[in-house]
Amino acid sequence: MPNNIKNELSKLLSLKRKATIKNKVNHMMNAIQINKDMHSRYIYNELNQILEADSLNRKYYYINRLLKSLTQFKKSKYNDLNLNQWKKYDDIITDSLWLIDKRDKTGEHSAKYWGNFIPQIPNQLIKRFTKKNELVLDTFLGSGTTMIESIRLQRNCVGIELNPEVIKKTEEIIKKEIKSNESKSIIKIIKGDSKTVSLDKHLKKFKKKTAQLVIMHPPYWDIIKFSKFKKDLSNTETIEHFLDDFGLIIDNVTDYLDSDRYLAVVIGDKYNKGEWIPIGFRVMNEVLKRDYKLKSIIVKNYEETSSKKGQENLWRYRALVGGFYIFKHEYILLFQKK
Ligand SMILES: C[S@@+](CC[C@H](N)C(=O)[O-])C[C@H]1O[C@@H](n2cnc3c(N)ncnc32)[C@H](O)[C@@H]1O
Repeated sequence: MPNNIKNELSKLLSLKRKATIKNKVNHMMNAIQINKDMHSRYIYNELNQILEADSLNRKYYYINRLLKSLTQFKKSKYNDLNLNQWKKYDDIITDSLWLIDKRDKTGEHSAKYWGNFIPQIPNQLIKRFTKKNELVLDTFLGSGTTMIESIRLQRNCVGIELNPEVIKKTEEIIKKEIKSNESKSIIKIIKGDSKTVSLDKHLKKFKKKTAQLVIMHPPYWDIIKFSKFKKDLSNTETIEHFLDDFGLIIDNVTDYLDSDRYLAVVIGDKYNKGEWIPIGFRVMNEVLKRDYKLKSIIVKNYEETSSKKGQENLWRYRALVGGFYIFKHEYILLFQKK
């Protein structure tokens, strides 16, 4: 790509013949290695639009638009995206249906921790709802997926996790990830119960004492028993008890989230004795009892868990007999603090 693309574009505006503009644009496009990176692809596609525009006026319009996008940064309130170049962010999902076929297994990411979410979930949320050096809070850190993504995206991160054995492994993983990224992110892993942990003292090491995004990936009630601890949400005896505890966690962290900023809850439903238990919607209502507004209900595909692998036919048969559908989705519920 020519470095002086802005000059080249400005010069195009003084040309009076479509054919001459076409030649010049062709030349500029040939100089770009497409597929190299998001920005080059963006410039290439925009040049192509200039090339294909029918009238001289339309060509000028697209040239001016590209010039503007390269010279003026249109800030977004919650992230680092330049909205004047919105077309280049083809990696950002804006639909409410997320079909992600493969888990990102790069670096320290792995599926070893039973019940962890795929890294693409925090990756999308962090890119969309925080800026560099802002603080992400994860109230159920587990194997540290959110923290790894925060490190890679140059955000700071606080994670709370109840289980000390899980924390030991996660600390190792995070150390390696920080090293391989030569990261300057400030991170803090808190061993404790998200319902009661006092965040004040732990946030001292951060310049700001509030977070700009909260990600919550609680146990889906009792589907997976994460530990034997009574305080573990997966050990609550009834759905009401689970929701009460979940509500206490929201209450405990809400003061530490900036107003106008986002809270994301990743959650799925379950069957109990032939009845669908809508944990997701019950959790959504629990959040909406507080000072939040609902921004999106995202449905994400959910592929076989190891417990169902190889048993697809059996489950299909059971579904046909029992008159139910096999879970293939979970929710990412997105709220904004009022
Ligand atoms: C669904 S997993 C989160 C997985 C995480 N997103 C990851 O990618 O590894 C839920 C986690 O919450 C933890 N947990 C359960 N109850 C908790 C509580 N009251 N406070 C803090 N952590 C809790 C469990 O130990 C478990 O690691």
